[in-house]
Amino acid sequence: KQKEASAMLTAHELAAKWYHYILLNTEQGKHALEYLRSRGLSDKWLDFFQIGYAPAMKDKLFQFLLKRELPQTLLEKAGLIVERSDGSGFVDRFRDRIIFPIHDYKGRVIAFAGRALGDLQPKYLNSPETPLFNKSRQLFNLHHARPAIRKSGHAVLFEGYMDVIKAWEAGVVNGMATMGTALTQEHALALRRLADRVVICYDGDRAGQTAAYKSLPILEKAGLQVRVAYIPDGADPDEYITARGADKFRSEVLDYAMSAVQFRLTYIRSNFNFKDKNDTVRYLKAAARIIAEISSPIEREHHVKALSDEFSYPVEAIKQEMNEFRQQFL
Ligand code: UTP
Ligand code: MN
Ligand code: MN
Ligand code: MN
Ligand code: MN
Repeated sequence: KQKEASAMLTAHELAAKWYHYILLNTEQGKHALEYLRSRGLSDKWLDFFQIGYAPAMKDKLFQFLLKRELPQTLLEKAGLIVERSDGSGFVDRFRDRIIFPIHDYKGRVIAFAGRALGDLQPKYLNSPETPLFNKSRQLFNLHHARPAIRKSGHAVLFEGYMDVIKAWEAGVVNGMATMGTALTQEHALALRRLADRVVICYDGDRAGQTAAYKSLPILEKAGLQVRVAYIPDGADPDEYITARGADKFRSEVLDYAMSAVQFRLTYIRSNFNFKDKNDTVRYLKAAARIIAEISSPIEREHHVKALSDEFSYPVEAIKQEMNEFRQQFL
């Protein structure tokens, strides 16, 4: 078992080096390199993140690793090769894709994510679950971000690999992302060991906001203080940084992250039609319940007042709704 794990690590390390070499030094890697440069990644960051390219060939990596005396069964178990359904043998899992290596907290390569170059589906193909790689535990970029998170107690959680990478380029060195899976309690607990505060900075589109709404209680349950940053116009952090620059990303997005309560109040709004009187009342009720969860009386007061002002609704009624909820459920 021990031996198998260490051989799998070796296979990943060799594969990462190989993909990286293909990207930077071969004719086949040229279009991928151009693509990455067009997305604003200079060679310095391609090296830093060990980004690579898996060529559009059947089994080049497989043949390379076989020559290094890594057996087929091991490579299959490691998720680097897959058996063709027609029984004609094994092929490389990643073909014609940009490769993002995934490292464990010690910085060892344990999996890969492969991004299609065009509009091919799926956009990202990840390594399967293996003895080395457990998606519901792993955080992308944790090995780089760990020292900064430890030092500041502060982490930023992104949705995608490119967001983490572009944010890092922009000087945000405490960013991580999950890997095509929803955030789990295990992720949150792993984070809690390093940080006490997290900013969720997912994509500004509907899917990203819904994911943020779902991640919020998971992080809170782990004992983290959570805020939520919003990227305007449905963009993602990568697009925002490219369009508006690093300084604005920090000063206008991250520094303006909403409190958990503010985010919840804002998020649930889309479920209500404020032209409808009954719906407005339903929103006020839902909002009063969200506010009820705040432990600070001053903060509760502040939010009650804001709702009352916005909807020209008596403070007393909102407060009473909130207090009844507090008595019943908290
Ligand atoms: P997005 O669709 O927002 O992609 O998915 P992205 O990160 O912005 O990628 P680019 O900028 O188009 O290259 C967010 C994340 O969801 C996972 C990946 O982890 C991705 O980074 N994902 C997405 C998958 O695992 N598979 C997919 O097919 C798509
Ligand atoms: Mn602290
Ligand atoms: Mn998205
Ligand atoms: Mn995105
Ligand atoms: Mn993107």
